Amino acid sequence: MAPLKITVIGTGYLGATHAAAMAELGFEVLGLDVVPEKIALLSEGRVPMYEPGLEELLRKHVAGIEGSTGRLRFTMDWAEVAAFGDVHFVCVNTPQKHGEYACDMSYVDSAFASLARHLERPCLVVGKSTVPVGSADRLAALLAELAPAGDGAELAWNPEFLREGFAVGDTLHPDRIVAGVRSASAEKLLREVYAVPIGEGAPFVVTDFPTAELVKTAANSFLATKISFINAMAEVCEAAGGDVVKLAEAIGYDERIGNKFLRAGIGFGGGCLPKDIRAFMARAGELGADQALTFLREIDSINMRRRGQMVEMAREALGGGSFLGRRVAVLGATFKPDSDDVRDSPALNVAGQIHLQGGQVTVYDPKGMDNARRLFPTLGYAQTALDAVRGADVVLHLTEWREFRELDPARLGAVARERVVLDGRNALDPAVWRSAGWAFRAMGRPAA
Ligand code: UDX
Repeated sequence: MAPLKITVIGTGYLGATHAAAMAELGFEVLGLDVVPEKIALLSEGRVPMYEPGLEELLRKHVAGIEGSTGRLRFTMDWAEVAAFGDVHFVCVNTPQKHGEYACDMSYVDSAFASLARHLERPCLVVGKSTVPVGSADRLAALLAELAPAGDGAELAWNPEFLREGFAVGDTLHPDRIVAGVRSASAEKLLREVYAVPIGEGAPFVVTDFPTAELVKTAANSFLATKISFINAMAEVCEAAGGDVVKLAEAIGYDERIGNKFLRAGIGFGGGCLPKDIRAFMARAGELGADQALTFLREIDSINMRRRGQMVEMAREALGGGSFLGRRVAVLGATFKPDSDDVRDSPALNVAGQIHLQGGQVTVYDPKGMDNARRLFPTLGYAQTALDAVRGADVVLHLTEWREFRELDPARLGAVARERVVLDGRNALDPAVWRSAGWAFRAMGRPAA
């Protein structure tokens, strides 16, 4: 039997990684995007974002690159994609609508419509984008209506759980595969696509469409809840004089709770968790189930409050009062380490707030400088952590890059104006900094 031919529509984070991973699994892959610059870059084996291991994997498979398997190509031609694929993965993004909680389905809708019109042979279209529950039912009807192949073009829903920074590993070795299907043949095809990870033991959970869509939003809501829970505990610890890091460690030994995603700090950001919980609330409202998710409103406010609390902590460290004329070094701009993504980044938000209040903010980030500069051109930027800290009255650690844990506090102390460091991620070792003469404060932990 000839190996399946796979297409990937939308080559952002999710799609570019999925396309490269499918080629790695041995399939012939054709990726499509509507942005010509992305296609040009990917066709040269280059990635428009920083994601560890992704460029290497692309270069291993992109046709035309010396020594590659040639299994992966890119195009902008819908007819070519439709003619090529046995299985089409739709990986376009679903951002938050401007001025609303709901998610913007226009990219998904237009991708489905463009593809469907060209589908002349039997195939499986697989939705991977994070969508409001009920979308798959609607998109299945759209396929049936628009595809020349009619019922021969079937839909499946297969949410993606990859984390930025670990996208390649998460895609090649998923911790579970969720297949929302309406027929045994769709399930069989998806089992064929994922034969390797299934063989490695990845659980394969077969569901209906709504459940598959809900698994994704439920998972992200749970993760957001865990982070806001520990951040709420951090607030209580601050009021009561407790230590949230010790508290998290101690509750984490209970296997039912677990120790992951309990790092208190300035909270979650990025392109997924914040918009996904909001879209989930909006959708529940439409379904008349809004009461079930009112707690997510609280999760969102606890999270957003952290940023303001970090600003106040910085103000306090500077003796209270105004930021005017005070120099603030900010270590970290991305929403998490090992990524260059600054979308809804708590770190940049804090830097921006202090800047808007008159502080002289200098930011350094190992990978996020270009994106940060584009979003916040008026902040100061330094080439190294040392340069950012030079002359600073206070140092804020806001994204937990390994590089920052490996800094030498004595060297930084020699160039800072005041040795005051605030850890917004609870990732630095207080003892190391204090022994180098720094006043060290962290969110949810006692002052000394
Ligand atoms: C998330 C989900 O983890 C992933 O499964 C889904 O597919 C997409 O959304 P991602 O956005 O890459 O992935 O980031 P994640 O690692 O979940 O971190 C989200 C945010 O939470 C980051 O800003 C991170 O700094 C913060 N975080 C995480 C905490 O503040 N504390 C923690 O303990 C963990």
